[in-house]
Amino acid sequence: MLRNMEASLTARDRVGIQDFVLLDAYTSETAFLDNLKKRFHENLIYTYIGTLLVSVNPYKELDNYSKKQMDTYMGVNFFELPPHIYALADNVFRTMLSEFNNHFILISGESGAGKTEASKKILQYYAVSCPSTRLLNNIRDRLLLSNPVLEAFGNAKTLKNDNSSRFGKYMDIQFDHQGGAVGGHILSYLLEKSRVVHQNHGERNFHIFYQLVDGGEDDLLRWLGLQRNCQHYSYLVQGDCAKVSSINDKSDWRTVRKALSVIEFTESDIEHLFGIIASVLHLGNIKFEADVRGYATLDNNQEMHWVSKLLGIPAQVLQQGLTHRKIEAKTEEVLSPFSVDHAVYARDALAKAIYGRTFNWLVNKVNESLANKDSSRKTVIGLLDIYGFEVFNVNSFEQFCINYCNEKLQQLFIRLTLKSEQEEYEMEGIEWEPVPYFNNKIICDLVEEKYRGIISLLDEECLRPGEATDLTFLEKMEEKIGGHPHFVTHKLADQKTRKTLDRGDFRLLHYAGEVTYCVVGFLDKNNDLLYRNGKEVMRQSKNAIIRHCFPSTEPDSKRRPETVVTQFKSSLVGLTEILMSKEPWYVRCIKPNEAKQPGRFDDVLVRHQVKYLGLMEHLRVRRAGFAYRRKYEIFLQRYKPLCPDTWPNWKGTAAEGVRCLIKHLGYKSNEYKMGRTKIFIRHPRTLFATEDAFQVCKHKLGEMLFCKPICNAEDSTRNLFRVKLLTVTVAATRIQAKYKGYRVKGDYLKQKEAATRIETCWRGLMARKEREKRSWAVKVIKKFIKGFMTRNQPACSENTEYLAYVRQNYLTRLKENLPKTVLEKDSWLTPPPIMQEVSKLLKQIYIRLMVKKYVRGITPQRKAQLLLKLQTSSMFKGKKENYPFSVCRPFLDTRISIEDINIKVLQMILHEQVKYSVPVVKYDRNGFRPRLRQLIFSLEAAYLVEEAKIKQRIDYSFLKGVSVSNLSDNFLILHVTCDDTKKKGDLVLQCDYLFEALTKLCVIANKQNCFKVVQGSIRFDIQPGREGFVDFKSGQESIVYRAKNGHLTVESTRTKSR
Ligand SMILES: Nc1ncnc2c1ncn2[C@@H]1O[C@H](COP(=O)(O)OP(=O)(O)O)[C@@H](O)[C@H]1O
Ligand SMILES: [Mg+2]
Repeated sequence: MLRNMEASLTARDRVGIQDFVLLDAYTSETAFLDNLKKRFHENLIYTYIGTLLVSVNPYKELDNYSKKQMDTYMGVNFFELPPHIYALADNVFRTMLSEFNNHFILISGESGAGKTEASKKILQYYAVSCPSTRLLNNIRDRLLLSNPVLEAFGNAKTLKNDNSSRFGKYMDIQFDHQGGAVGGHILSYLLEKSRVVHQNHGERNFHIFYQLVDGGEDDLLRWLGLQRNCQHYSYLVQGDCAKVSSINDKSDWRTVRKALSVIEFTESDIEHLFGIIASVLHLGNIKFEADVRGYATLDNNQEMHWVSKLLGIPAQVLQQGLTHRKIEAKTEEVLSPFSVDHAVYARDALAKAIYGRTFNWLVNKVNESLANKDSSRKTVIGLLDIYGFEVFNVNSFEQFCINYCNEKLQQLFIRLTLKSEQEEYEMEGIEWEPVPYFNNKIICDLVEEKYRGIISLLDEECLRPGEATDLTFLEKMEEKIGGHPHFVTHKLADQKTRKTLDRGDFRLLHYAGEVTYCVVGFLDKNNDLLYRNGKEVMRQSKNAIIRHCFPSTEPDSKRRPETVVTQFKSSLVGLTEILMSKEPWYVRCIKPNEAKQPGRFDDVLVRHQVKYLGLMEHLRVRRAGFAYRRKYEIFLQRYKPLCPDTWPNWKGTAAEGVRCLIKHLGYKSNEYKMGRTKIFIRHPRTLFATEDAFQVCKHKLGEMLFCKPICNAEDSTRNLFRVKLLTVTVAATRIQAKYKGYRVKGDYLKQKEAATRIETCWRGLMARKEREKRSWAVKVIKKFIKGFMTRNQPACSENTEYLAYVRQNYLTRLKENLPKTVLEKDSWLTPPPIMQEVSKLLKQIYIRLMVKKYVRGITPQRKAQLLLKLQTSSMFKGKKENYPFSVCRPFLDTRISIEDINIKVLQMILHEQVKYSVPVVKYDRNGFRPRLRQLIFSLEAAYLVEEAKIKQRIDYSFLKGVSVSNLSDNFLILHVTCDDTKKKGDLVLQCDYLFEALTKLCVIANKQNCFKVVQGSIRFDIQPGREGFVDFKSGQESIVYRAKNGHLTVESTRTKSR
């Protein structure tokens, strides 16, 4: 299907010649125009001159920009398909990828010729055809959507073009080494700011104003204080054409709003941006009244309040800024009031400055969003779409700048095309004769030469003190450059010319034609002065964009900024440098009529453009040497069927093949030259003959395939050359076809046999491997089963491997399941019978190891504690019921700190060293009443203390025994040796820290053997000679009472032993 489409395209394109280089009458402008016209009327707007693309604006939508079309052109050679902007874009792209270098496409032509559209088509082609990922799609969307945004703010309707670019744009698209579009950068050139405050009849202000007023949402307009009526704003009505049928401001507004969010403008950016646009409109509506002295006044002006609100500048400050200027007197600054005219001038200057700087901010913002953060090396394709050559009825400073820019680009074009052509001949070793052409350098010099050029003269007038005016500038030009052949004024002109010039005019003979400039406003526009306090006022703004655009770091107006034209000149120098470092490609746009109408081809208009665009010269340069050139490989590949020696394959080098081929075709020696890598063909007709022969040959081959007889009466009338070629080719092809058939069949059988053989071998190999694997598995399983069956027999050859496996298995499992702590020692993995002995030994060793580790890990304090616990255990374990509960309670050094013992007591016993103290309840010997006391153990005795009194001292040598019950009470009885009946007897005590206190006593008093655990009753001496009893019982609850029998009875609850 694709092929069908291609075929029909090719057929359609046979209208006219698709490459001017093939035009026989290449010096004839008429022939050139005829070809262009013929194609234009067939909607074939593109024609090549070699690799340069000529494009004629169709002024209607054509159907050749579909995705399908893009696919068709992707990766196809230039000359194989009809000329198209996509073919050029694709070639640039592929050259960039294969040569890994930078390129630019210079799109030129006068205003309205289709430059901007062409640049958009190229960008769209890359957006669709380059490799894509999600990340890249993101960049792609931004690249595409940067266009409507910049166009809204930088384009306007002019008389020449409803969407005329009022700024120059150079855009770099950055590609990674795989061809993915990964970023972009835009440089903008000189925006025509004067449009903000003034438009000629039939022209509009920048689109964005109308889009906002027409398309802005109700809420937004209310917030901005705008009315939905362009007629209301004096900055929008001067051209008297706010509404244009070709422009849909409402839908453009929606596009711009969507684009802004894709390019990552925040809501606050957008709010501030439209705040600025609206405030420019309000500024334009501010009217000044004259007071009695003629000074401008501005009382309570509604519009001014809106500006103040939207820009966040105090009304007072703004009002003063609009009606006064600051003048520097000797030592101080004074405010001088404006006249009404002056105030209007200052207001407009402010509006222009605000808009112009906001536009630059916008470009920077777009650039931030397109920036590629990855630092790996990129190649770029630059697209230069700059304002085209422009001639109006009245031309001013802006046209002067625009046309100067076009002169510079033409100069670049001349240098680059001649240079590259010459280089190619040199490289290929072909002799080359220079071609004469008109070099516009003379005009560039006239404009830009240092000291003498128009720019220098203009700056001089702008900067010199004294009364410089536009007219003094004109006079200076007449004086300095009056004799220049490309410059004329009313005064300098001859009579005939004078009639066409006003007194304030000067005329330049540009490369593209004459343009008469009106000198009025040149000085002002070049100075672009914004009064100093205008800037100061803006610096107070709360609007973030305005603050950014009027930074406080800006040098103040004492030092004059560079004039506009000088800035522009330097930016063009910069641009030239950027372009010179890249490989050039050209699109030359032509405007078919001035009425923007489809289907109208104005011969005079087009002839003029063809002339000044230098197309004829370009063609001459291309043709002067050789019309066509092709790499040997490509030429041979295409035309080899035309010669039996080169068909189907040529064994030698491509150059030899081509030599053989053209010899066979009968090329004459003056018709071609053989370069180092290319063949150069002088006349198009030679190539035509070759191409036609090729087409016929292809056709005949097709017929033969469908077995049609070759009998075409026309054949005999065709020129001999072709017939001869054809016969040879057909014969060769027939033999070739048969031979090819046999060979292919033979090859096929051989390949089939080989494939089968390889497959058989491969399968055999795989099967053998599988069998080996299985027999090995059978052996292993058998051995395992036998081993298992004989596992309990003495070691023999049948079970050794199995038992080794069991051993290893047990040891491995044991290793993974060893007890983690000494306490888990019983969780030892059960061993298989053959490992029982080993397991036992291992267990012992391991436990010893763990114990050792544990012991090593304990601190001296803990050790002392444990020794005490050991002592307690030896005294009470298994004897007293509540002993187990004490085990987990750590022993402390003392239960009563030294501060809590009465000082008097301490003084009395301190020399004996207090070792341990504990609160106890003492039961009276008579009546067994409970009393709270402190029990203190010194090195020598036990003391029972009440506050400051020592109630009883028991020297350890008199301590004959200590008794406790076997139950779970906390009672202890200290038995004392006593002969003296007056002395106190044994002590019956209750202590919450019974085990701790007793252990301490045992250790301190060294009385291991006098502890007794008693069942039932304990007898004690109330006094020497008088006995008492304590009876111990188990009961429901713990109680202590004096029983009827006079015994102290202690009941304690039975505790479950652990
Ligand atoms: N290839 C094209 N197909 C259809 N219309 C076109 C084409 N090129 C230009 N135009 C029409 O011409 C108008 C002007 O083209 P534009 O590219 O803006 O001119 P320039 O940038 O050269 O001033 C466009 O708005 C569009 O209507
Ligand atoms: Mg444009």
